[in-house]
Amino acid sequence: MRKVKIFDTTLRDGEQSPGVSLTIEEKLAIAEQLSLLKVDVIEAGFPISSESDFESVKEIAKKIRDVEIAALARSNYKDIDCAWEALQEAEDPRIHVFIATSPIHMKYKLKMNEEQVLEKAIEAVRYASKYTSNIEFSAEDASRSNLEFLYKLFEKVIEAGAKVINVPDTVGYAIPEEFGEFIRKIKENTKNIDKIELSVHCHNDLGMATANTLAALKNGADQAEVAVNGIGERAGNAALEEVIMSLVTRKDYFQDFIVTQDTTKIMKLSNMVSKFTGMVIQPNKAIVGKNAFAHESGIHQDGVIKERTTYEIMDAKSIGLEKNNLVLGKHSGRHAFKEFLVKTGYKIDDENFEKLFLKFKDLASKKKNLNQVDVEALINDELYKAEDYYKLEYLSVTTGNTTLPTATIKVKVGDEVIEKAACSGDGPIDAIFKAINEIVDKDNISLLSYKIEGVTEGTDALGETTVKLKIDDDIFVGHSVETDITHASTLAYLNALNKYMTKKLQEAKKI
Ligand code: KIV
Ligand code: ZN
Repeated sequence: MRKVKIFDTTLRDGEQSPGVSLTIEEKLAIAEQLSLLKVDVIEAGFPISSESDFESVKEIAKKIRDVEIAALARSNYKDIDCAWEALQEAEDPRIHVFIATSPIHMKYKLKMNEEQVLEKAIEAVRYASKYTSNIEFSAEDASRSNLEFLYKLFEKVIEAGAKVINVPDTVGYAIPEEFGEFIRKIKENTKNIDKIELSVHCHNDLGMATANTLAALKNGADQAEVAVNGIGERAGNAALEEVIMSLVTRKDYFQDFIVTQDTTKIMKLSNMVSKFTGMVIQPNKAIVGKNAFAHESGIHQDGVIKERTTYEIMDAKSIGLEKNNLVLGKHSGRHAFKEFLVKTGYKIDDENFEKLFLKFKDLASKKKNLNQVDVEALINDELYKAEDYYKLEYLSVTTGNTTLPTATIKVKVGDEVIEKAACSGDGPIDAIFKAINEIVDKDNISLLSYKIEGVTEGTDALGETTVKLKIDDDIFVGHSVETDITHASTLAYLNALNKYMTKKLQEAKKI
């Protein structure tokens, strides 16, 4: 039997998705959930790439236990020193160094030949090994690289101290059968490859990232690099939930593999990543899409009622989807609420518990039946929001088919309350956002996207709003859930502005 190692790169490759920017608090919350799901390695970031990446790797390394924490570095001393500095407090740190090895990348990007790349890779691994023996080496664009070169390169970096060799399909070019064969050849022809762990990292440009990952595992790979909801550069990475659930669901086919992850944590993590990144999950997305366990045709519905397995190859409960179970109501007290938090994997201190409980009671008084998704939406909204630099004091909106939409808003900024009265717009949301822009007095804000969705069905459903703002060339995702959608939109917009202000204030403190 072989254990499959799950290496999650949501916080590094996933965060490189276009338009995604996570705060340190959000990254920590995701890392916490990844550790509850029991991934083997969390790639927390690329510390040299930005101050905030450095800080978040440092925080995760300090706070998240019982899981290896990896940080990425190019093959040079400065990147490796920086990765190590960020990783130092981790229980089990891993330095992940990489260099490109394909003829296209070497010629046009690196302007180096094979000998130079080989030398640089060996030097980087040797240098990293002065800090730790837990070193992963990646040959970027490996699937388009010359195999003979890879055999030699891998032999040398193993000799230099690499404990994991990663074979990325960086541009999602591989085809499953071919990629499986590629991995088998590397296993057969690289000296000492059996002394280390072999890993794969597949991108989804042709929609085959999961299939390529599974083909590689079948042909000898030990580790799968994945990201929650399949997010990542361009079309993304192999999806964590797809790889894990394929191995579990088809254990008859993957019979010699041991999978140690807690699959019941998948749904919560998937929702969290989607909320924090502002990346919507397509309804027909495998495993975690809204329709993944929905049955529309009468024949299918009839079949599932008679016997679930007629049309469902997985039990929704196995991924933690208990969507329709009513969990709490307006009569639920502190005890029931605490029990819910423990069961769903939230670790909450007393101060936050009181805040959340009040919010929960407020929601329960407005919405009769609360299910798991409602309560999780409320918790994620309250717990991981930025400090209230701008705090909503008052909101009034008028709109209609014969009325000019107008908004009156009061926002507290420090000790001062600023009011913008009767601001008109193309619609109520436009009026609200224009009023806020006038209050915060900034002319460099552009609205990249605005989304509103019901958390569950029904007219009393919570409205979940996501706002993506571009301010000073950075992206800030604001998020809120409320029963009133104009209120939710206002809070989401202010939340994005508060993230911007938090960043500004943190930068100012460092100067
Ligand atoms: O896609 C890729 O090649 C990567 C490496 C840095 C592992 O993300
Ligand atoms: Zn990648």
